[in-house]
Amino acid sequence: MINLNKFYITTPIYYPSGKYHIGTTYTEVLVDSLKKYHKMLGEDSFMLTGADEHGQKIENIAKEKGITPKEHVDEMAKIAKDLWALMKIDYDKFIRTTDDYHEKVVQDIFEKFLANGDIYLGEYEGLYCTPCESFWTESQLVDGKCPDCGREVKPAKEEAYFFNMKKYQDRLLEYYESHPDFIKPDYRKQEMLNNFIKPGLEDLCVSRTSFTWGIPVPSNPKHVVYVWLDALTNYITALGYGQENDNLFNKYWPCDMHVIGKDIARFHLIYWPIFLMALNLPLPKTIFVHNWINMKDGKMSKSKGNVIYPEDLISRYGLDALKFYLLVSMPSSTDGIFTPEDFVERYNSHLCNDLGNLVNRTISMINKYFEGNIPDYKGHINEVDETFENNVNSYIKEAKRYLDNCEFSQCVSTIFSIVSRTNKYIDETAPWALYKEEKMEELASCMNHLAYGIKTIAILIRPFMEETSDNILRQMGLDNNVTIEDLKNCKNFDGIKVIEKGEPIFVRLEDQVEVEYIKGLMS
Ligand code: ME8
Repeated sequence: MINLNKFYITTPIYYPSGKYHIGTTYTEVLVDSLKKYHKMLGEDSFMLTGADEHGQKIENIAKEKGITPKEHVDEMAKIAKDLWALMKIDYDKFIRTTDDYHEKVVQDIFEKFLANGDIYLGEYEGLYCTPCESFWTESQLVDGKCPDCGREVKPAKEEAYFFNMKKYQDRLLEYYESHPDFIKPDYRKQEMLNNFIKPGLEDLCVSRTSFTWGIPVPSNPKHVVYVWLDALTNYITALGYGQENDNLFNKYWPCDMHVIGKDIARFHLIYWPIFLMALNLPLPKTIFVHNWINMKDGKMSKSKGNVIYPEDLISRYGLDALKFYLLVSMPSSTDGIFTPEDFVERYNSHLCNDLGNLVNRTISMINKYFEGNIPDYKGHINEVDETFENNVNSYIKEAKRYLDNCEFSQCVSTIFSIVSRTNKYIDETAPWALYKEEKMEELASCMNHLAYGIKTIAILIRPFMEETSDNILRQMGLDNNVTIEDLKNCKNFDGIKVIEKGEPIFVRLEDQVEVEYIKGLMS
């Protein structure tokens, strides 16, 4: 039964200009895993995702393709939805910023800000590329030229609306100070303070006249709302804010957690809270900023030919191997680096050798020693069993601490420490010797403890490795309808029979062959 505990997570929405590489799936994989974990706790969680569909870039791409911007974003939204279906991302709502209800509320918000003086008319100055009809900032240029077409740019001005950020600067500072959990990790807050807030906030340009693919400003329709005021408000319009039916908004806002990548930190940690303050709405409880997955030679980019797509890894190694890799390889303090060698190494050592072998060996021992029946636990505990159980319990607590502190890679690593610890328990107890010496009571306790370790692991990996969890539970003869609460009841196997012959969960990869295969996927 689902309790009415409030839990709500949003992700940023996607800038839909191409196929999604493995890095851009990280946000979804993380949020989806969090949502599934909270579901297993019996909590009511809601995940939002979607597509960010306006702006000059979209307009330019559509023009190049000879189709309308709407036709282009329709294609992009389908690509995103197909990918999330393939990756079994269990979102509750997919918002598109071209959805009518969103556009209408953005217009209402713009006019409201205009009426109360938060937005004023001014002049935008930038570097303009005439053929592309695009403004660029100095830092966006490539060798001093337009990053899209490589031609000269020249300084230009256009009339534009601005949001008065300065007005809210002190309130934001105060909010940061009085809400220590608002931003995670903490160093992101320091970056915002040092780089943007303390030097003094700049007002933000919120409209453009140089392109038309955007939401028109009702009182001055030659302007379209410029990207951030449109994109960020998706988080509330998706829930019905400003609309007739705002039940979801009343139930879920403010959300418990936003998850975003580091490149959009400034927009979510400064502008978004200020927009919410201007609307008199509460702020998200926590905004978690994750790092990036890069390649050895830096960012993934088509021009470098170092891009890896999720579909390619999934079709050869399975969805769970990719999700495990993404979550475990992203440190909280620096960027993660994808290498084919690391991917294959982690697959072989953690998934195949440690986890796969543990399950396989245990199933074959239970078949050999107890005709497939998991022995019941009869209270026989020696010191080795007791230490093992205590260690597993400590790892569970440690994993929870990491999770609460948004240290996700450490959390997954700690779960896999239970796998290593359970393998070590086999070495410590040497069940084959107990069998030889006919110490059947000890042997029964040993098999029971192994089944306990494996069931614990199957529950803990479930939010991010559901297929593997299902597979393990099925082979162990256990029901896959498990919850986090079941961690307290992992020793009662009354009458349960494992399958007759264990099936490999992960098949060992030939290192060199697979490293070369993955290198061949990069494009
Ligand atoms: O930013 N590693 O969309 P987006 C990890 N639509 N995460 C990465 C990454 C990488 N290599 N590359 C991108 C947008 N991301 C806007 C947001 S919000 C109202 C609008 C992350 O498709 C990135 O940080 O460029 C972001 O969280 C997500 O993927 C989508 O990026």
